[in-house]
Amino acid sequence: MVKSILNKTNLSKEDITILLNSEGDNRIELLRKSAEIKEKQVGNKVYLRGLIEYSNVCAKNCYYCGIRKDNKNVTKYTISDREVIDAARFAYRNNYGSLVLQSGEIQSNAFADKIETLLKQIKKVSDNQLGITLSCGEQTEEVYQRWFDAGAHRYLLRIETSNKELYERLHPKDTLHNWDKRVECLYTLKKTGYQTGTGVMVGLPFQTIEDLAGDLLFMQQLDIDMCGLGPYIEHKHTPLYQYKNELIPLKKRFDLTMKMIAVLRIIMEDINIAATTALQVIDKIGREKIIKVGANIIMPNITPGEFRDSYSLYQNKPCTDESMEDCKNCLEARIKIAGCKIEYGNWGDSLHYRKSQEARASGNRLLVP
Ligand code: 5AD
Ligand code: SF4
Ligand code: FES
Repeated sequence: MVKSILNKTNLSKEDITILLNSEGDNRIELLRKSAEIKEKQVGNKVYLRGLIEYSNVCAKNCYYCGIRKDNKNVTKYTISDREVIDAARFAYRNNYGSLVLQSGEIQSNAFADKIETLLKQIKKVSDNQLGITLSCGEQTEEVYQRWFDAGAHRYLLRIETSNKELYERLHPKDTLHNWDKRVECLYTLKKTGYQTGTGVMVGLPFQTIEDLAGDLLFMQQLDIDMCGLGPYIEHKHTPLYQYKNELIPLKKRFDLTMKMIAVLRIIMEDINIAATTALQVIDKIGREKIIKVGANIIMPNITPGEFRDSYSLYQNKPCTDESMEDCKNCLEARIKIAGCKIEYGNWGDSLHYRKSQEARASGNRLLVP
């Protein structure tokens, strides 16, 4: 059954559900197929994105997240401009190729202005070389455009779950937390010209395997360029913690995440897929395992050490005690062990994005008389 599904060109929700449920030899077959496609499409290259967790101030109250507005147990911080620039310099000096500026979600003019200024400064100190991905939540089209014009070229906005009803159970019911709006933002990002990424959490309370299959089809339908998906890790100071006994065990959550990445690589062969940090919470060599199976992006943390503990979306976050330098060396060794090689000094755009750009360009040419 699994073998015949793996030979199909278009997978249905039922097919994907079967793949996500696969065990034993079938599971191995799935992972093997994905690794084979990865090898063919992206080879053994791994691209780095230095991750700057700019601020843990967030206006939202997602029930799963440790830095939600109402969690008073976490010290709020915003990194100074100087520290952001220093981290960018570190990424540039060390040939990371690109960085990610991530923060809680704030929709204000002051925040939009601040990010715009930082983008311009990062571009300046890196001689226009560093690529910049933003992950700063839902914003207006105008703000997305301003940030794009200031130098950001990729944007990550996780849909969290493609099932609207499930989304509504995981968020307060108000205008700030609106699934339709979030989807609209993803389309706006694409329209603005960003390489657009989304992602989900795996193993959420109330989530079914069919939901996860739907998540993968959602990504395919949206025709995303990149994806960051990871296991849900319960956090003590969040409302969702009350369901901790109803969750699937951590090991299973990890395995399910691995299968999700495998199926995603199979149905979207040439996109960029990140091995997210949350994987390492469950398995010390989790990210490496995922790289072997299908991921090709790693985001080493380059947030100044003193703040790393406070960006606690989930508990037991790794790499919070290491300096940027230590983390870099550790990562390099890890990737080598996974049989892969870091591709330094490269933006590492997804082939998927490049191909769609080329297609658009040749389409435009056809329109010219
Ligand atoms: N476990 C795993 N991932 C989480 N995120 C937020 N809270 C958790 C959690 N408890 C993820 C969300 C968000 C990203 C920045 O972090 O998917 O989009
Ligand atoms: Fe804010 Fe994102 Fe956390 Fe939601 S998941 S509370 S938007 S940081
Ligand atoms: Fe960060 Fe090892 S990867 S310390």
